[in-house]
Amino acid sequence: MSLDAVLSRIDADLPQATDRLLDLLRIPSISTDPAYKADCDRAADWLVEDLKGLGFDASKRPTPGHPMVVGHVDGAGPHLLFYGHYDVQPVDPLNLWNRDPFDPQVEDTPAGRVIRGRGSSDDKGQLMTFLEACRAWKAEHGTLPCRITVFLEGEEESGSPSLIPFMQENADELRADVALICDTGLFESKTPAIVTMLRGLLGEELTIHGPNKDLHSGMYGGVARNPIRVLSRIIAGLHDETGRITLPGFYDGVPELSDEMRAQWQGLAFDHARFLGDVGLSLPAGEQDRTPLEMIWSRPTCEVNGIWGGYTGDGFKTVLPAQAHAKISFRLVGQQDPFAIREAFRAYVQAALPADCTVDFKGHGNSPAGQMSIAHPAFEASRAALTDEWGVAAAYVGCGGSIPIAGYFKTYLDMDAMLIGFGKDDDQIHSPNEKYDLESFHKGIRSWARVLERLTR
Ligand code: BES
Ligand code: ZN
Repeated sequence: MSLDAVLSRIDADLPQATDRLLDLLRIPSISTDPAYKADCDRAADWLVEDLKGLGFDASKRPTPGHPMVVGHVDGAGPHLLFYGHYDVQPVDPLNLWNRDPFDPQVEDTPAGRVIRGRGSSDDKGQLMTFLEACRAWKAEHGTLPCRITVFLEGEEESGSPSLIPFMQENADELRADVALICDTGLFESKTPAIVTMLRGLLGEELTIHGPNKDLHSGMYGGVARNPIRVLSRIIAGLHDETGRITLPGFYDGVPELSDEMRAQWQGLAFDHARFLGDVGLSLPAGEQDRTPLEMIWSRPTCEVNGIWGGYTGDGFKTVLPAQAHAKISFRLVGQQDPFAIREAFRAYVQAALPADCTVDFKGHGNSPAGQMSIAHPAFEASRAALTDEWGVAAAYVGCGGSIPIAGYFKTYLDMDAMLIGFGKDDDQIHSPNEKYDLESFHKGIRSWARVLERLTR
């Protein structure tokens, strides 16, 4: 059978496929830091060349930010679009890495072989699973199985500022029968999964200003307003003692989980104790009447991602700072409106400011939650393909993270998007020592070959 030939080719070619991925991982394409602009460009060039080698008519497409990569190959049957992102997160704190994040290597660990390096899992390793499946298919058959568009972004990790305009301007070129997105994970690191629910994201940064200069805390402390204390009170007031978020109207549009969904999730046998235990915790914080899985997939959050001000260097300095800063993000579910929540948040902060304090806000992206319809036949076909590869029934799951484009395909191109990925919970994406299991990479490539075969039967 021809699928078997493709799968055997994937097995035989794994060392070369791994070398290609290591090559891409050496390019430090950190999208959020302007110092790496040329590297983002280089990563895009690398992918254009790779796609050309696979027979795609591929090019780097400029945007006001980092370029998109778009490639087309013609064929009969369905028109599939594949999306991934070639940009990566910053690497700090660098001292916590056990190797140079951009000098990737295959490492033997007690749990198996892993590809270590920034972007190995999020998302270069994942996007290469699809390109490698195409490579093996083409090597066996001489052509790809159907019409395919590859669409790779270089700004996903910085909120995709150029994405919507690019999709609108190139709608006819990008519209396909279904979008395949490889940027998510397995369920519990072992069960293949198709994500049908993603949380949205709203980012807010604020600076509270008090005195017009830093002051000596002995001369002024107690009399002068301290912006860090003001900020702390404001942050503390965002949740009540039960973990609920206090902003007026915050829960508008948050649906209650259906009994059917709750039962299905309970059937997934999520190991709550292991989930927390793996990160050195034992008791769930937050809403006490919800299970951890329910909280991550179906409940909104407000989290403080960073807070700074005053003196934070070595030693000690008795300063009363002029300013205090924080970065706060909200994960959104259901029909929650990011713009309404931004307004409610800013109004709450303004109202909480004492005399002599002012505040500046900076918005950092906003996207609503995404709910995928699974009515398109590609979903059940792909689920069967994943079940075949992993030997475990593939599951429909939620995802606590955010991939704004998943919803944009529906909104701007009227296409369904199917999120299939092979990351594991312990991949340490966005953290030091990011890795991608060689098993994820290998079986990920095989999975896509099987999906392609099922979708083009
Ligand atoms: N690949 C992740 C999304 C993800 C996270 C999938 C966790 C599965 C598990 C994606 O690249 C990401 O990190 N997205 C950002 C959003 C973006 C707008 C900065 C996120 O979720 O924080
Ligand atoms: Zn990602």
